[in-house]
Amino acid sequence: MNTVIRNGILLSTTGATPADVLVAGEKVAAVAAPESGLADTWAAGADRVIDAAGKYVLPGGIDVHTHMEMPFGGTHSADTFETGTTAAAWGGTTTIVDFAVQPKGTSLLSALEAWHGKAAGKAAVDYGFHMIISDVNDATLKEMDACVGAGVNSFKMFMAYPGVFYATDGEILRAMQKAKDIGATIMMHAENGIAIDQLVVQALAEGRTDPVHHGTTRPPELEAEATHRAITLAKVTGAPLYIVHLSASQALSAVAAARDTGQNVFAETCPQYLFLSLDDLGRPDFEGAKYVASPPLRPVEHQDELWRGLRTNDLSVVSTDHCPFCFKDQKQLGKGDFSKIPNGIPGVEHRMDLLHQGVVRGEISLGRWVEIASTTPARMFGLYPRKGVIAPGSDADIVVYDPRARQTLSVRTHHMAVDYSAYEGMSITGRVETVLSRGRIIITCGEFHGRAGHGGFLARDLCQYLT
Ligand code: URP
Ligand code: ZN
Ligand code: ZN
Repeated sequence: MNTVIRNGILLSTTGATPADVLVAGEKVAAVAAPESGLADTWAAGADRVIDAAGKYVLPGGIDVHTHMEMPFGGTHSADTFETGTTAAAWGGTTTIVDFAVQPKGTSLLSALEAWHGKAAGKAAVDYGFHMIISDVNDATLKEMDACVGAGVNSFKMFMAYPGVFYATDGEILRAMQKAKDIGATIMMHAENGIAIDQLVVQALAEGRTDPVHHGTTRPPELEAEATHRAITLAKVTGAPLYIVHLSASQALSAVAAARDTGQNVFAETCPQYLFLSLDDLGRPDFEGAKYVASPPLRPVEHQDELWRGLRTNDLSVVSTDHCPFCFKDQKQLGKGDFSKIPNGIPGVEHRMDLLHQGVVRGEISLGRWVEIASTTPARMFGLYPRKGVIAPGSDADIVVYDPRARQTLSVRTHHMAVDYSAYEGMSITGRVETVLSRGRIIITCGEFHGRAGHGGFLARDLCQYLT
């Protein structure tokens, strides 16, 4: 099947340029300037011609932080690989990297197998895995080699959640030493969980049980302290470090300082930290529970700093940390005790649109939009140039985006399997019009044409930024 996308404005990290694109089978076959006239020849032999006049043509979004069917707080995140990747496709995301979770006392490889079982035959777009290490021991450390061999070379560890995923500094040090040896990346949930747990106990004892206290008991300083500690451990061991879901300006300062010294330290933030705030956690009638995630939403002043970090590249990636729990049946588990609210916010469908608001508001350029949402995630996690760029030989994961369309985000129109929208009523400029995943049209004209099982597993190379 050959497809020509013509008259569009091609976006890449270097900006916008008029260009026509030829897709042959699953791959991009050629990109040509309109004045070359090549598109006429291509169109004559094509099965399909998409007129993208006035539209952006950009590489499919890559969301490197999702949690489909993740066990958490006595329940599971609400999206399956099928519903979650379908929602991703609706929002212009054509690749996800999800986290396989090692339950304590089990092996990494059995966790990886379990995640393959959840995703295979279900995913509508391509997917890879990171591994969550919750049990550091000799056997686990040895298994990291096999994970790398199986295309999973990034390992998330937690300085938060004592008793669940928490790792001590000594365990982190050991895993980092191993990561350094094998070229793997350690991804860090950087919050001081030991101190936070004391603040939580005190808050509950004082009757401060509402969702907003999820935020007040996890102050930004304890994210900054953990971020600094993770950076120090990475420095001592020489391991590459990627800070996940960075939310606080103080933590960003720690990342920026490390990067200024040339250390291999990278960080992502998420749309919820750019567009939502502690005020949302404080919504009355338990509505704040919809906004409980860790790290928590911060006071609104942090947002300007995060946008600045995106411009300076101290924040290199925006991913969603998509971890949906239904308000009605799941978030209610924490009624009367905020610490029992399952942590997570849905968002896999809205990342590309929300970041486009950054372009509309003048926070980031068009090139930077593509960079933080697609190209850098591909490079950071060993998928480039197969993904993250529209160039001959790349997978034809392509989004045709109407930058002038208007839409209102709502639970009534989204496709995630969750009963609320964190962005309910938000008015957006821009909309995904057509999405190709490996050359196949999966979204067009407001209809889904994909299928469960179209998405395949991506064995990833090592991080492509390491010095
Ligand atoms: O609240 C969050 N972030 N839930 C998902 C698990 C994690 O820590 O990423
Ligand atoms: Zn986390
Ligand atoms: Zn997460």
